[in-house]
Amino acid sequence: RPALTLPRLRDMAARGEKIAMLTCYDASFAGLLDAAGVDCLLVGDSLGMVLQGHDSTAPVTLDEVAYHTRCVARGRRSAFLIADLPFGSYHEGPDQAMRSATALTQAGAQMVKLEGGGWTAETVRFLVERGVPVCGHLGLTPQSVHALGGYRIQGRDEAGAATLCRHARELAEAGAAMLVLELMPSATARSVVGACPGLITIGIGAGGGTAGQVLVLHDMLQISRGRLPRFVRNFMDGSDSIEHALRRYVAAVRDGSFPDEARHSY
Ligand code: KIV
Ligand code: NA
Repeated sequence: RPALTLPRLRDMAARGEKIAMLTCYDASFAGLLDAAGVDCLLVGDSLGMVLQGHDSTAPVTLDEVAYHTRCVARGRRSAFLIADLPFGSYHEGPDQAMRSATALTQAGAQMVKLEGGGWTAETVRFLVERGVPVCGHLGLTPQSVHALGGYRIQGRDEAGAATLCRHARELAEAGAAMLVLELMPSATARSVVGACPGLITIGIGAGGGTAGQVLVLHDMLQISRGRLPRFVRNFMDGSDSIEHALRRYVAAVRDGSFPDEARHSY
């Protein structure tokens, strides 16, 4: 298949063709995900939890994300490669963020993702003006778990939803190309999508109204430790191989059967 580029992802979103994203941390899985038709591979700082055994993403360092990005870059063929800027690697401001984004770009990332609302807009603009595509991340932002007081659903009431819409617009105006929406009611996610027609929206626990979906690889293969949130579907259930599970994930995202409004949404 042809390489998944940012313009191609924008086309898919504009045509209503759903985008399938999964997290990925190594070359072997990068090859499998790519062959299964996954559009975007995210080297998420969730690696702190599923690979390193931490109970949050906060301890993950830039060097660690860069290492896993290099691994994934060697195994991918046509999928679009996004890497997370970890906690503390962009919080001081645009200059620090540009240095961190440079490390991830040199490791093979085609886009960097950072968490947070309006306070990140200046940084987003700085990176985008310098040729680094940026993905925002709103709703449950796991790097702020200590401030949020747990992994809770965000944007439940009207005021919360309005705040998310405002932050999304600020990110869009700053030039973000993509936006992850995590753990919020489907209706809230739909308002955010409606508020920012130019953004490629990717949901996780945010219902079916976004342009695409993402899950943590280890969650959808049911090899994560501990209890999983309800928005996760175990794609190994009914599959006879990892390849099969990955293909079923891509198919379910494409045809809109995942996420199921009743079972995987809020
Ligand atoms: O780190 C991660 O896996 C993520 C996704 C859940 C969006 O940020
Ligand atoms: Na992340």
